[in-house]
Amino acid sequence: TLVTVFALLLSYLLGSIPAAAWVARARGVDIRTVGSGNSGATNVLRSVGRGPALAVAVFDILKGALAVVIARALGLDPLWSALCGLAAVIGHNYSPFLGFRGGKGVATSFGTLAVIDPVVGACAFVLGIFTMWLTRFVSAGSIIAAVAAGLLVMVMQRPIWMTVIVLLLAGQLVWLHRANITRLHEGTERRLGEKVK
Ligand code: G3P
Repeated sequence: TLVTVFALLLSYLLGSIPAAAWVARARGVDIRTVGSGNSGATNVLRSVGRGPALAVAVFDILKGALAVVIARALGLDPLWSALCGLAAVIGHNYSPFLGFRGGKGVATSFGTLAVIDPVVGACAFVLGIFTMWLTRFVSAGSIIAAVAAGLLVMVMQRPIWMTVIVLLLAGQLVWLHRANITRLHEGTERRLGEKVK
């Protein structure tokens, strides 16, 4: 229906708001040219600071969560509401405000997952944070959380549409971390809290 198309477009647009790039720019930093060059909270932490990074993380989580919540409020069913969350993540990763580039969708995917499957979201979150704490690699924590979410929806026998959407979120996240995976392999990945100028 028209409402569904509207909700999908709105979600994509909401997701595409490049908080990291704009917050960094307000502090005189071009996020695409410092650190990992990624438009995400991790790179803001590295190149700008803690407060701005936290603000970006919260905002990016809310983009994913709100897309689903708004879709539900508009009367969309669980499947289409979840697809709105996916649309927000796609907007974050391929933003028209950044020439259809963007971040890696960690925070926004988590926001979506937390609303569409809170149990799987909480498990993935705990595992991801634990991995980050253990390794000091945000990328490793993000990848572990995504893989765990993908496995959990299968093991817990979620409905097929939920399984497919979570696998798409996880697959996209891991794909966008391929440069991080190379760096982890080569031992050149930046640790959490490492500063860049
Ligand atoms: O926020 C994405 C995180 O998993 C990795 O970010 O900047 O280290 O590539 P970054």
